Amino acid sequence: MKFKHQHILSTKQFDKNDLLAFFEVVKKMEKVVEEAVKEGKQSKLCEGKILATLFYEPSTRTRFSFETAMLRLGGRVISNFDMLKTSSATKMETLYDTGKVISQMANVIVMRHPEVGSTEKMAKGSNVPVINAGDGSGEHPTQALLDLYTIWKSHGRIDGLTIGMIGDLKNGRVPHSQCSLLKHFGCKFIFVSPVGLKMPSEITAELRACGCEVVETEDLAEVIHDMDVICMTRIQKERFANDEEYGKYAGSYVLDCEMMNLAKKDSIVLHPLPRVDEISSEVDDDPRAKYFEQVKNGVAVRMALICEVFGIKV
Ligand code: CP
Repeated sequence: MKFKHQHILSTKQFDKNDLLAFFEVVKKMEKVVEEAVKEGKQSKLCEGKILATLFYEPSTRTRFSFETAMLRLGGRVISNFDMLKTSSATKMETLYDTGKVISQMANVIVMRHPEVGSTEKMAKGSNVPVINAGDGSGEHPTQALLDLYTIWKSHGRIDGLTIGMIGDLKNGRVPHSQCSLLKHFGCKFIFVSPVGLKMPSEITAELRACGCEVVETEDLAEVIHDMDVICMTRIQKERFANDEEYGKYAGSYVLDCEMMNLAKKDSIVLHPLPRVDEISSEVDDDPRAKYFEQVKNGVAVRMALICEVFGIKV
């Protein structure tokens, strides 16, 4: 497959054929990881290349996942996990200039930033590929790719599945990016959120324009039986003006064993993590819980993405 752009900034860059071809590359990457873990075999696919992780917002999974992916491919990593406080951003260096500068040193840039559209600003300056690891409440394309890969792997298909998304659908960049990819597969969507945190209307309108059925409700117990995929999300505390505003929504939904008893026997539960209290830890032992498997899949997905932006055939 060949991506339409050098940079990976948005899920809008992918159509259905791209995604299905991409999943086959990810499967190969899972084998590369397996060979490394079981046989100590080191891939040399990215030997001599350097990946820079520039994080202006906190992260556990995404940064380590990209760094692990590059190391698994035989490349090397330079990293700043606190760009807002410890980089020349404090001296008002622009994202455009930062892109120009880092691309003199690294072969690919992975960045996360609180501002929507920030990754495009860096990409304009950069001479090397820039990958969006989350831009405010905008997008998180690589998370959505690994979520779809997990669905595809678990269900053997995505076409026609009923996808539930639960929680902060207004501020969550992950559900936004997931919708942008899932719209290609004729899915039915069930959005469960408090009224104040509904999925933006432009997203529901786009899904309906693509022929997808969309249901919106506040009541999870009423609809969970219909879901093939249960995508839980955190109430995005960092996007609220203050603790009082956040407090109005904190703890809105909790997926526990009692709620899982109402779900389909072959449904799966996804969460981009971190979780706060929206999935009870007792659900972790349920074979339908796939959120830690998502983390594992994420490394292979990012290995495949890194190879794709370099045009490396696997
Ligand atoms: N899923 C995700 O983006 O996690 P981090 O914020 O830990 O990177």
